[in-house]
Amino acid sequence: MGYRFEFSNLIGEWDALWSITRGRQVHMSDSVIDVRGLCKRYPPNITAVDDISFSIERGRIYSILGPNGAGKTTTVEILEGLRVPTSGEVTVLGSDALRNYGHIRKKVGVLPQNFEPFDLLTPFEAVKYWSDLFDIPKTRIDIDRLLDEVGLSDRKKVMSKKLSGGEKRKLGIALSMVNDPELLFLDEPTTGLDPKARRDLWELIEKAKKRGATIVLTTHYLDEVEKLADDVAIMFNGKILVSGSPGELVSRYGSKTSIVLRGVGSAGMRELSCRGISSTEKNGDVTVSVSNPSELRAMFAKLSSIPIDIEEIYTRRDTLEDVFLNLVGAKMDEGVLQK
Ligand SMILES: Nc1ncnc2c1ncn2[C@@H]1O[C@H](COP(=O)(O)OP(=O)(O)O)[C@@H](O)[C@H]1O
Ligand SMILES: [Mg+2]
Repeated sequence: MGYRFEFSNLIGEWDALWSITRGRQVHMSDSVIDVRGLCKRYPPNITAVDDISFSIERGRIYSILGPNGAGKTTTVEILEGLRVPTSGEVTVLGSDALRNYGHIRKKVGVLPQNFEPFDLLTPFEAVKYWSDLFDIPKTRIDIDRLLDEVGLSDRKKVMSKKLSGGEKRKLGIALSMVNDPELLFLDEPTTGLDPKARRDLWELIEKAKKRGATIVLTTHYLDEVEKLADDVAIMFNGKILVSGSPGELVSRYGSKTSIVLRGVGSAGMRELSCRGISSTEKNGDVTVSVSNPSELRAMFAKLSSIPIDIEEIYTRRDTLEDVFLNLVGAKMDEGVLQK
């Protein structure tokens, strides 16, 4: 936060100092969301969110990644002021989200999970209704512009029940943006959509970021995180296992660089093993890992001197998918962990 000491800021300074002296936490960084020790239990004995803490910086896309049931929706619904936590502190846009959400609601946009528009309203009518509801006067031109921005110009007069899944989500995003929000929550915006619709929505999300919005994006798609997220928290069983930029997580929790020998099979693997090179095999492809990319060249030389038939040889670095597998111990398909 740019925090200049001016006479007019004096009262704010006193307030900040006062907060420090009373032991409250004062955040001088430019964080839009601060969460400390957040817990949410549902009766009788479900711990949906289990003591999580994180901060989200202004202007970034922060992704909460995890399988179904991880606690993503519960977390964002608390941040949206819709749910009351069991314990913890939540500051959103500088306000205590548990007491003062009224102050900030107008600066926040929400696309809920599984959003469905009103069947019998057209996108134009829906945006008009939504903006009237929130007391945001919009002209016909404003509404057209918003619908154009989300790619629904051609469909603005079609009843919403006739829209495709992707178009319905685009309309949901348009509705979440009627107030030009500083902070946008998108709860699984692309779940269940076809690849083209997902890519369209990715573009939309990137556009919203370019306009300066901070975006909280929950998802179970690893490629979505790699494509969009500046920061990611991997959530599982109500806990945040790790967080950082996708690149940081890959270098911290991925297992290094590998050389793949395609099609050499178990016979090839034996040849490597009797020369002291350890490897793993999957579907006939044999993988040799090196702990440091600088060791690649020497390992390539070693491997090429071994008389085995190789269809193809290439290097690969771990992706977020490998990180997820290493941390959670299972892959994820459409949000479901694979045993
Ligand atoms: N209103 C509720 N009452 C009881 N249990 C709930 C409620 N909402 C969610 N849960 C449970 O809390 C856990 C976390 O759910 P949720 O926050 O929806 O996770 P996610 O969005 O990651 O799928 C799950 O076990 C879910 O069944
Ligand atoms: Mg959810």
